[in-house]
Amino acid sequence: MVSVSGLSHRFDTKWVLRDIEFEVAAGEIAVIMGSSGGGKTTLLKCISGLLRPTEGEILVDGVSVVRDPDHALAKLGLVFQYAALFDSLTVEDNVLFGLRRARKVAQSEEKEILGRLLEQVGLEDVESKLPSELSGGMRKRVGLARALCMEPQVLLYDEPTSGLDPVTAYSIDRLIVETRDRLGLTSLVVSHDVSSIFRVADRIIFLHQGEILFNGSPVDFRAVQDGPIGELIGKARSESLELADL
Ligand SMILES: Nc1ncnc2c1ncn2[C@@H]1O[C@H](COP(=O)(O)OP(=O)(O)OP(=O)(O)O)[C@@H](O)[C@H]1O
Ligand SMILES: [Mg+2]
Repeated sequence: MVSVSGLSHRFDTKWVLRDIEFEVAAGEIAVIMGSSGGGKTTLLKCISGLLRPTEGEILVDGVSVVRDPDHALAKLGLVFQYAALFDSLTVEDNVLFGLRRARKVAQSEEKEILGRLLEQVGLEDVESKLPSELSGGMRKRVGLARALCMEPQVLLYDEPTSGLDPVTAYSIDRLIVETRDRLGLTSLVVSHDVSSIFRVADRIIFLHQGEILFNGSPVDFRAVQDGPIGELIGKARSESLELADL
């Protein structure tokens, strides 16, 4: 469903992504993780059409993001870090924003769509609230409802659990998996939260200094002992052992 090939990007003379190749199958949840400065945000920007890569190709359902961005991007939904809602608009106006711009919608249809989307993300009685009246986790849910409103085939999540307490982060991870299960959506999640990664990922893609260091299953990822991945796994293990000692 998402295919990236020969993707390289440089800012001025500095190459920050080098020959990135991977595929994410329909319905799969792929987590992109990696060291700070590894190129995750740059990769996500290329996939979401915000940045034109220096070289390479990105296909979404067979359509090129580089050559035919409007057509390809209509298949993508973005769930931004910190939800990025419009502060002065109600939940209803935020969720229906893209849809109202795209086409004329009758009030009864709007009501039906809004009700369905809010139910899907587990929210009730929030239609007329402003983002400032919601908790961080609720705002993330509204951000997801807004992305789902345009009926994308692929969802891109940028750090969906950052800034959330562990319990709320857990509920958002559940929501990512439930959304995929219910709608069959292909999902790409940029994350650095190790416990979250193992809860949601079917595939892990690890970027290090602009290159893919690992692309495979969570089980194989856990077995890596060397290098930056081994270090990360070792740290996560010792933290969970400390927790077990409490
Ligand atoms: N607009 C830019 N101009 C120049 N260099 C940039 C720009 N954006 C990113 N970089 C550089 O590209 C490299 C990759 O950055 P990127 O933000 O993609 O990493 P990241 O994996 O998202 O890191 P983090 O985990 O810290 O968010 C870094 O060395 C960064 O300094
Ligand atoms: Mg980043």
